[in-house]
Amino acid sequence: MDHLREEYDGELDPAAVDPHAPLQLLTAWIHDAEKAGLSDPTAMCLATLGPDGAPRSRMVLCKGVDGTTVRFFTNLTSDKANQLHADARASLTFWWPDMDRSTRLTGHVTPLERDEVEAYFATRPRSSQIGAWVSDQSSPIEDRNALEAKHSEVHARFHEADVPCPPHWGGFRFHAHEIEYWAGRPARLHDRIRLTHNDGTWTKARLQP
Ligand SMILES: Cc1cc2nc3c(=O)[nH]c(=O)nc-3n(C[C@H](O)[C@H](O)[C@H](O)COP(=O)(O)O)c2cc1C
Repeated sequence: MDHLREEYDGELDPAAVDPHAPLQLLTAWIHDAEKAGLSDPTAMCLATLGPDGAPRSRMVLCKGVDGTTVRFFTNLTSDKANQLHADARASLTFWWPDMDRSTRLTGHVTPLERDEVEAYFATRPRSSQIGAWVSDQSSPIEDRNALEAKHSEVHARFHEADVPCPPHWGGFRFHAHEIEYWAGRPARLHDRIRLTHNDGTWTKARLQP
């Protein structure tokens, strides 16, 4: 893989990292990625702690940035949800490769209220709503045929009726304690600006690349 060498040409204006609106730049970068037509501009890597204390990570979609929080949805009996119920500490990483930008957040999660979950679920495409009933996410299944048989059964069960939000489906609000904005620059002299929350205020620091 040594032949793969990216030249970075991003930019990060330190003035755009506002300690009074710490996630404003994250929102702007997601919009920029969306405008540029990048695929999955809201995709983020969520890291949790497993029962053995070892880190686990996987991709999820950001479904809203609000103040210093980020929300996402998932199956509440999945491995990630079990891990977050046992230990609420988590980390999120966004990466927009074509823009030479990344954002990393450290914090903890709280469960979303049921009415918020149901309101969001109602906006999902029907196929995703049915999928939420089909999948016992993160549990083993014999083979693909067994999964498709479950799908046919759920599809027939709801027929043309509205699909309600399953009790095992929900989401989390991630509360940021530390935020780092990264922009790749030439000669590996990347920009890194970190915001840290302490005693009610956010402090800003430039980090070496
Ligand atoms: C781009 C992308 C977006 C994803 N978005 C979600 C999501 O929003 N929620 C979710 O539960 N799983 C999502 N997944 C699937 C997860 O990465 C993962 O496979 C699944 O949630 C099970 O993870 P767990 O076993 O650690 O709980 C996404 C996967 C990819 C590649």
